Amino acid sequence: MKKNTAVGMLILGSLELLGTAAYAESDPEDIIKYRQNVMKANGAHMAAAGAILQGKVDYKKDLAYHAKTLQTINSDIPALFPKGSDFGDTKALDGVWAKRADFEKRAKDTRAKADAFVKAAGGDTKAALAKFKELSDSCKACHKDFRKEEK
Ligand code: HEC
Repeated sequence: MKKNTAVGMLILGSLELLGTAAYAESDPEDIIKYRQNVMKANGAHMAAAGAILQGKVDYKKDLAYHAKTLQTINSDIPALFPKGSDFGDTKALDGVWAKRADFEKRAKDTRAKADAFVKAAGGDTKAALAKFKELSDSCKACHKDFRKEEK
């Protein structure tokens, strides 16, 4: 009994150490991959919401969840771009770090547009579509300034 507790505490202690070490020493390439995956999810939920709003598919009941997820993803975009994650296999332009205030302004605008989309998503389709387009334009505005053009 006593031995088990000691071993248990030891394991817990090691896990804790592992956790902190992994966080403190994240490989920049892993951070880049992570944010690209999160951004891909951003794109996927936009595409799904767009298909619903354009009447291409009949999943109106899922619109609220796509909107909510977009709100969550876009609640803190700058956190996906920490210092030191500016080189490697990334399409982020130097401005993300060099013009940080402008970058954060873009992120803030997108956050506000995502909030507005959540509010509109439960209402009539026309109003929801208008907010969806504003959100989409806001994503594009940041990409235009801060992301390398696709080849
Ligand atoms: C504040 C700036 C900013 C905002 C806002 C933003 N993005 Fe991005 N996004 C970026 C940058 C910079 C990259 C390039 C990241 C990289 O390659 O490291 C990117 C990458 C992407 C990618 C490509 C991911 C990949 O590598 O396959 C998609 C898709 C994407 N964003 C969708 C969206 C959508 C949809 C929204 C809005 C709901 C959005 N983004 C909002 C800056 C932004």
